[in-house]
Amino acid sequence: MKLNIAVLDGDGIGPEICRGAVTVLERVGEKFGHEFEFKHYPIGGCAIDECGDPLPEKTVEGCLKSDSVLLGAVGGYKWDDLPGDMRPEKGLLRIRRAMGLYSNIRPAKLWKGLANASPLKHELVKDGIEIIIVRELTGGIYFGERGRGSDENGDYAWDTERYSVKEIERITRIACELAVKRSKKLVSVDKANVLESSRLWRKTVHEYCAKNYPQIEVKDVLVDNMAMQIVKDPAQFDVVVTSNMFGDILSDEAAQITGSIGMLASSSLGDTKRGLYEPIHGSAPDIAGQDKANPVATILAAAMMLRDSFDLTAEYAAIEIAVQKTIDEGLRTADIMEEGKQLVGCSRMSELIAQKI
Ligand code: IPM
Ligand code: MN
Repeated sequence: MKLNIAVLDGDGIGPEICRGAVTVLERVGEKFGHEFEFKHYPIGGCAIDECGDPLPEKTVEGCLKSDSVLLGAVGGYKWDDLPGDMRPEKGLLRIRRAMGLYSNIRPAKLWKGLANASPLKHELVKDGIEIIIVRELTGGIYFGERGRGSDENGDYAWDTERYSVKEIERITRIACELAVKRSKKLVSVDKANVLESSRLWRKTVHEYCAKNYPQIEVKDVLVDNMAMQIVKDPAQFDVVVTSNMFGDILSDEAAQITGSIGMLASSSLGDTKRGLYEPIHGSAPDIAGQDKANPVATILAAAMMLRDSFDLTAEYAAIEIAVQKTIDEGLRTADIMEEGKQLVGCSRMSELIAQKI
């Protein structure tokens, strides 16, 4: 295949982790006979510096012309005091919307050999964890109406959570497609004891599943209880579907209990095969440019792209196996370093993974 990949390096460790993923993709290309063309476009803080906009028009155009998009990370101290619309994060929110990427899949998995990294007691994680959070990505409070005003009590601000049946149904479909291939169990997270939008969410999820996926068992969990259950008994969960904001929060929690957020990737997709693939972690400005970052999450994001955008399942598996082999051999970046293991930097780790393909 000849594939045109847009690379949005972003800020902080973004460029180095993307370089690592490109190294691995090039090796996959050699091995499996694909030709990758990488075109880099600015996003986030570096785009603000270069073009005065966290998402310049040329970036949107480049992404929409590409076959798929790989993203590093955005943000950093330097841009922390800018107003809401000019923050680096806004670039990320806008590209999700511009590409119509309403579904964000965030698998939180405990890697074999890294169970010690989990902050949870061994007995809770000994059988492994793999929670796949399916987060709605272009609706809800992130994109609802917001504003500021003032009255006799002084200044106030407001944001709105709003979901349509159509938005809920399309994200439910994505979650069901995953669940049918796995445990056939789906957990839907909401706050239906308080929020009207959650009551519509719950009703829609049930009606949609009953009509289209009767083989799936759907269970509702309130978001506060979910936050508790994830640390109490994470092995009970498989596929979880939820709103934009609940998904943002719970996916960080689920990632954290694996202890290795530097190893977790995510995919964002809409109605086409063109997606945006990125690590779950952020731009880590404190270690940027020092070759200390863990490139694995971005390498796995690239692997997810091969599988989910291009149906290259053997290539996906080859990368995943290569990553597992480096762990088995005791190679570790600083974030997952343990006594008796061998510390390697970002570029070396990427090369070693590439060599194993
Ligand atoms: C994420 C991030 C973003 C989000 C921020 C950077 C806008 O936290 O991808 O989870 O809240 O969606
Ligand atoms: Mn987040």
